Amino acid sequence: MPYVPVDIYINISLPAYSQLNGIGGWAYVTGGNDGIILYRQTYETVLAYERRCTYQVEESCGFGIVDSSWTTISCDCDGTKYHIFDGSVLEGPATYGLFQYRTAFNPDNNQLHVYN
Ligand code: FES
Repeated sequence: MPYVPVDIYINISLPAYSQLNGIGGWAYVTGGNDGIILYRQTYETVLAYERRCTYQVEESCGFGIVDSSWTTISCDCDGTKYHIFDGSVLEGPATYGLFQYRTAFNPDNNQLHVYN
């Protein structure tokens, strides 16, 4: 994955991130190569997936979109599907899971740091 510096602070109490207040919720944010999907995996854990597809990553023609079921992330180009729970591949052609940025989340004050 091409390196792009990421250093984002977010308070998920803000209305734009209301979906992240529930476990299994998600939100798009700007940053990384093609944007980032935040995913509330557990009470204490928010994951940050790079939206750039890992299939032919230097010239990928699509990026990840959360499906209406909220269980998978699909690439709109060649149809790779990833599990939203951990970013692993559900269906190819990609073979590598979604790239993840580091996160630090404090559920006591709803502050999230996304970085690399
Ligand atoms: S770029 Fe994602 S499957 Fe083709």
